This record gives sequence, C-alpha cells and structure tokens, in this order.
Amino acid sequence: MEMKYRIVPNEVYDVMGLNENFNYLWNPDPVSSLIGLGSSYVLEFFEFYGQAVGDYYEEFIQKTELKDDRFPVFVTQEKRHALAHRKLNNFITKGIAAPTREKYHPRVYDFMYGTYKEFAEPILAGIAKEKAAGKGRDGMFFKESIRSVGIFESIVCMTGFTFFDNLFDNGRFEQIIQMSGNLGVLYLLGYHYTEEMEHCAISIEAFEKIYQEKLWTKELIEKHFGNMDALSRQIILSTLHIARMLGQEITVKQITESLVFQYRTQIAKKYIKEGFNATEPEILAKREALVNRWDNEWEPILLNKIKEKIAA
Ligand SMILES: [Fe+2]
Ligand SMILES: [Fe+2]
Repeated sequence: MEMKYRIVPNEVYDVMGLNENFNYLWNPDPVSSLIGLGSSYVLEFFEFYGQAVGDYYEEFIQKTELKDDRFPVFVTQEKRHALAHRKLNNFITKGIAAPTREKYHPRVYDFMYGTYKEFAEPILAGIAKEKAAGKGRDGMFFKESIRSVGIFESIVCMTGFTFFDNLFDNGRFEQIIQMSGNLGVLYLLGYHYTEEMEHCAISIEAFEKIYQEKLWTKELIEKHFGNMDALSRQIILSTLHIARMLGQEITVKQITESLVFQYRTQIAKKYIKEGFNATEPEILAKREALVNRWDNEWEPILLNKIKEKIAA
C-alpha cells in the first residue's frame, strides 16, 4: 500500500476552537469523545517512542540487506501525527499538566509517566547499553522495541477499524458530521487513522523479516488478551485525566463498557490470530477501502463542511 504525507489544513485548527469556546464533544457520545481525547495523548506518546526506535532501525537495519524503505516513511508519518496532535494536546493540558522532557522522551505528561518509566525507558536505555557493547539488531532490547511497535500498530489498526466502522462507514457519516460538536477533532482523528490504515503492517513485517519469526505467536496473543493489555490501561488513565481537566464526570466502568472499547476488543480478538500481520486479504482490502473513501469521499465533504462552518 502506498503511503502519503497528508497535510492537515489550517481550517481544521480554526474550527477546533482551541479557546474558551472549545467543545470537547467531537462525537455525539460524551464517553467516546473523552476516550478519543485520551487516545490523542497515548498516540502522541507512542509516536515519539516510535521515532526513537526508528532512529535505531535506521542505524542497525537500513544499512544492511534487511533494509525496508517503507519503514522511514512510516516513522515520518508518525512524526507528523505527533505534530498534528500537539496543538490540541497542549490546549487541554495548558496550565494544568505541562509535559516534561525526559532522557528518552521529549514530551511526557504526568499521567503518562508510569508508562514511560515502566515501558519506554527500560527498552530505550537497554538498546543504548547494548549498542555501547557493540550489539545491533541482535540485541535483546532492540528486538523487544521492534516487537512493541508491531504490537502497538496492530492495536491501532483495530482502533482505526473501530473508528471508521462506527462513525464513517455503514451510512453513519452524514449523521455524525451533523451531530459532531467539533469537526476539527473529528477531522484530525479521521486523517490520523487513515494514515494508520496505510502503515499498520510495516513494523510487523519488519519484525518478521529481521528475526524470521512471527510477531503474533500463540504466547503473545494469550499474554496480550489474557488480561487487559497495557495500551487499554493507559487509554483508561489518560481518559480519566483528560475528563477531569475538562471538568467532566466519567467512571472506569463507563470507559470499559463503552462501544469503542467493546468493539475494538471484539474485532482485535477476531482478527489478531497467530501470525497476524495486517496483510491478510480481508484486512488488506478493508484497509485499502477505508483509505480510498477518506481521500475521495469523506475528507472532501468534511473539509467542505468545516469551511462552511467557518464562513458562517
Ligand atoms: Fe500515528
Ligand atoms: Fe502508526
């Protein structure tokens, strides 16, 4: 699948209303709206983590016969996503919870600090140590980093399906854009998940190519779906924090029982089987169809609607 660098038009930020009139209800459902905003922070955090891993990939893999020129394009898409989310993320947390620069990550929010310390720091510090000892792709931590990016991308792929299936596809698009209280946030997420659709197989394939083994083994599936996965837990935490900053009441139960959570878990269990790499014919066709519809149908209508709103 060809990957593109889409530009988020300025009108999207104009209509987002990052001021005292900000309306967090980009989705008609308040719980889904808050989960979407919580996810905005989780995505940004992992995009920076992916960039750090991408730098090592460049060093350890791109100079070898295992190189894959799609990988840097994937990392660049992620870099652009983090930038695109930054204005929104800064706005919500402004004056309440500024992110800090940590040794291995440039923007860690307080409510992401646990994930940074438990997950990102050990892996990135581990790679640095292995590199100093002369190791490259044979290092245990580097392998773990590529695996972690592959897992993340697989789950984001399922989140993208959840987003499009429930908001844009199945005849819902017209209704959602009529009911959305923030077309800017809706656009930002649509743009983001479209590019996620384009690149979600790249890091999984990279893992398989480098290590000649499947990423999604039986053991990983059991570990991942046995308890609530780390990513879902982080989305719950971020959603709770963002809700509090926006002065909204929400419970953990409301989050875990939401349509978004339930749907994503259900399709993840359906599609992520042993050997999953997001290029299975059904998955590939679905990804391609969603990207095409965003570019040719949904995006132009949504942008037009945004322009109308600004003009009014
Ligand atoms: Fe992304
Ligand atoms: Fe991604």
